[in-house]
Amino acid sequence: MEATTYNYKVVRQFAIMTVVWGIVGMLVGVIIAAQLIWPDLTYGIEWLSYGRLRPLHTNAVIFAFGGSALFATSLYVVQRTCQTRLLSDGLASFVFWGWQLVIVLAAVTLVMGITTSKEYAELEWPIDVLIAVVWVAYAVLFFGTIMKRKTKYIYVANWFFGAYIITIALLHIVNSMAFPVTLTKSYSMYAGVHDAMVQWWYGHNAVGFFLTTAFLGMMYYFVPKQAGRPIYSYRLSIVHFWSLNFIYMWAGPHHLMYTALPDWTQSLGMVFSLMLIAPSWGGMMNGIMTLSGAWHKLRTDPILKFLITALSFYGMSTFEGPMMSVKTVNALSHYTEWTIGHVHSGALGWVAMISIGSLYYLIPRLFGREEMWSVRLINVHFWWATIGVVLYIASMWIAGVAQGLMWRATNDDGTLTYSFAQSVNAMYPFYTIRLVGGFMFFAGMLLMAYNVWKTVAAGRVVNDARIPEAVHA
Ligand code: HEM
Ligand code: HEM
Repeated sequence: MEATTYNYKVVRQFAIMTVVWGIVGMLVGVIIAAQLIWPDLTYGIEWLSYGRLRPLHTNAVIFAFGGSALFATSLYVVQRTCQTRLLSDGLASFVFWGWQLVIVLAAVTLVMGITTSKEYAELEWPIDVLIAVVWVAYAVLFFGTIMKRKTKYIYVANWFFGAYIITIALLHIVNSMAFPVTLTKSYSMYAGVHDAMVQWWYGHNAVGFFLTTAFLGMMYYFVPKQAGRPIYSYRLSIVHFWSLNFIYMWAGPHHLMYTALPDWTQSLGMVFSLMLIAPSWGGMMNGIMTLSGAWHKLRTDPILKFLITALSFYGMSTFEGPMMSVKTVNALSHYTEWTIGHVHSGALGWVAMISIGSLYYLIPRLFGREEMWSVRLINVHFWWATIGVVLYIASMWIAGVAQGLMWRATNDDGTLTYSFAQSVNAMYPFYTIRLVGGFMFFAGMLLMAYNVWKTVAAGRVVNDARIPEAVHA
């Protein structure tokens, strides 16, 4: 029996936790957005201070929400496209509970102020060790399943998931190397500019592989499935895969423009970032063109709307990113809200929307239903989310450019035209618009949770779906 069915249990667990962590992470996002308008919002309680909640937000949305979405979809896709059950149920269970433990430990330590202070790698060494163990177990589970596949070819989505799994292991282990002093304190093994270089090699590729390559794996499965069409070009997907992964690795220094990093490395980072437009847009076109002949479905199918809008935001942020890597543009954008606008056009527009679309496809199938409890609610969610992202990023763009221009404005005698406090004051209207946009996106997640709840209540748990007989024979 085991050998003839898929393991849906772990997929279901991660899928539900994606919604839960999405709500938690975005709620913290809304709170910090509000703190920037009302700094005393949390009554000076240190655990709830901006400095502690901000890394809690980034870790929760990237690793808890995004991570759970990736575990759910990769472990579903690898089974379906290899037409075989996961390598081991025990290992799958270990990966799920191990990752949840990492998330809880992260939440507790970050609000206590325990941090390495490296962005996106804030967790202290014992948690880093746990992450490495869980991640290696995940790699064994994923690649072990590929090795026992019943199909001849490895579908392209698995290539993208595979690249992300290997790269994240490499990035995490190298960047987290540290000398432990106590259980909650360690010092990086690298010093000075080397530390910065390794950190942003990690940071950039965490964006490149965690927030991009992996979600492209999601795209390559769920867009063709929901559209009911084969991927536009299989050949393009292979060119996309190799070129994207090769070029991404070199672009990290664009986070360190005009710093003590050698100038040639900064230029190298800029050139590779500019080259990234080609594979990124190739991939986006491959996804969008999958709809050729089925464009009419976009009018009525809100899941497709999520997926295709996500691809449009992917295209937008991967055009904007290379522009921001150009040194003269970065001189204006760096340290400003423009970066925050860019981050969220990728994070909300691309990462969150492709995840939400994929989950709306996945959840009914995990609970023995044809579709979600309410398709109309998905549609309402789509509009709240889209309007929310647009308000968020448009306000941050205007705020960022205004900030950059105010900082560099000088009078005839060479003195600064504006004080820093004046530039902060100018931000309030934009922070308010961002809060409204962010809240709309968050409220959309609550709608999703309600819809999922009703779907689960009306359905039945499908732990073990049958692998098609024809293939099995
Ligand atoms: C309701 C939705 C969200 C709201 C209201 C929100 C709000 C915020 C705020 C206020 C900041 C700090 C900005 C600053 O320091 O100036 C921030 C930073 C950040 N957020 Fe979000 N966020 C949301 C969703 C997300 C999601 C879904 C992701 C990722 C998948 C994400 C990733 C990040 C990252 C990476 C940063 C740090 C950016 C940087 O340091 O440059 N956010 N967010
Ligand atoms: C071709 C693709 C891309 C390029 C070349 C690129 C380039 C850049 C540049 C130049 C910055 C600003 C660095 C600075 O001034 O500090 C940046 C920041 C950032 N980008 Fe991108 N970007 C790309 C795509 C994306 C996507 C798709 C996402 C999200 C899903 C993303 C997430 C981020 C984040 C989180 C930061 C903030 C890092 C930090 O300072 O904390 N980027 N990117």
